[in-house]
Amino acid sequence: MIPMVNLQAQYAEIQDEIVGGFSETLNNCAFILGPNVQAFEKEAAEYLGVKHAIGCASGTDALHLALLAEGIGAGDEVITSAFTFIATAEAIKYVGATPVFVDIDPGSFNITPENIEKAITAKTKAVMPVHLFGQPADLPAIKAICDKHGLKLIEDCAQSFGATVYNKQTGSFGNAAGFSFFPSKNLGCFGDGGLVTTDCDATAAKVKQYRNHGSEVRYYHDVVGYNSRLDELQAVVLRAKLKRIDQYNAARRHAAHLYSELLADLPLATPYEDGIGVHVYHQYTLLCDRRDEVMKALQEQQIASAIYYPVPLHQQNVFKAECAGVSLPITESVAARCMSLPICANLSDDNVRKIAGVIRGVFQA
Ligand SMILES: Cc1ncc(COP(=O)(O)O)c(C=O)c1O
Repeated sequence: MIPMVNLQAQYAEIQDEIVGGFSETLNNCAFILGPNVQAFEKEAAEYLGVKHAIGCASGTDALHLALLAEGIGAGDEVITSAFTFIATAEAIKYVGATPVFVDIDPGSFNITPENIEKAITAKTKAVMPVHLFGQPADLPAIKAICDKHGLKLIEDCAQSFGATVYNKQTGSFGNAAGFSFFPSKNLGCFGDGGLVTTDCDATAAKVKQYRNHGSEVRYYHDVVGYNSRLDELQAVVLRAKLKRIDQYNAARRHAAHLYSELLADLPLATPYEDGIGVHVYHQYTLLCDRRDEVMKALQEQQIASAIYYPVPLHQQNVFKAECAGVSLPITESVAARCMSLPICANLSDDNVRKIAGVIRGVFQA
């Protein structure tokens, strides 16, 4: 079987380092906000080029805490994408705000500056672009719109660790950003984990307070907070993988470019790089009118494939009623035709060739 992500192969390469780190933690028993969390936060902030990086329990929590700390709340509108994982919009709902979904660019799958600007109302407080599948949204243009209209920019970087725009990391453009360390992410841990980044001292202080029961001083609580701390054992894993993230992302880009070369002449749309940023291919996603046939042929050859995402958020049961009348033609058309192929740092050229060969076979039959 060729899986979507080969986590076993990745683990085998770093096993000694991780087991050594686990053993140290098990011996010193500093399980909560211990030395590895502190070191990881420092290393991640340095890598991402931000003043503060604050570990928390998941990517969903990272977005939630970032919105809370930036003061987004009831009555506010947040402009975002409907072509994303549900957590993007859940975080907006958790703070009592309303997600306003705008349409995407059919090539990059990211929300466009033009669509964002058209959706701004007196209630708009923030824009939350998602750097979908690892391709940065048009951050310079989106930031200019936010600055012009006095809006907060909160980046959903769940899929974009290491992606850059003009050599500047995603997660370093906005007022704050949220990253996910779900195991299959470009930087993934061995369970759930997340990170908030910001250059603002006040936002960082609030996120630290919210993630730890609203407390700055132990057993003194100033606001109603949450239990959303990054686990010390996960920080051991993340430190080992952060050292190798550039190599992992380069290997993903290599596999993606090989796929695109091998599939170039077929009647499907291979991922488009918009030239604004460096895509880190969290997913390699095609548009294909014969999606069911291609996925069936791959499955017959023991090759995984997946649809991210089959139902855009404005059409999900949870949002259907509040989004009645919302029409996002590009999002809807992309959701009906998208499919993702296996991609990870350990995908061999031979396997890329094999997968591309199976797809070619469908069109030649
Ligand atoms: C775009 C996007 N946003 C947010 C999240 C939420 O992250 P987590 O699963 O770590 O809560 C994910 C991860 O699945 C995601 O892909």
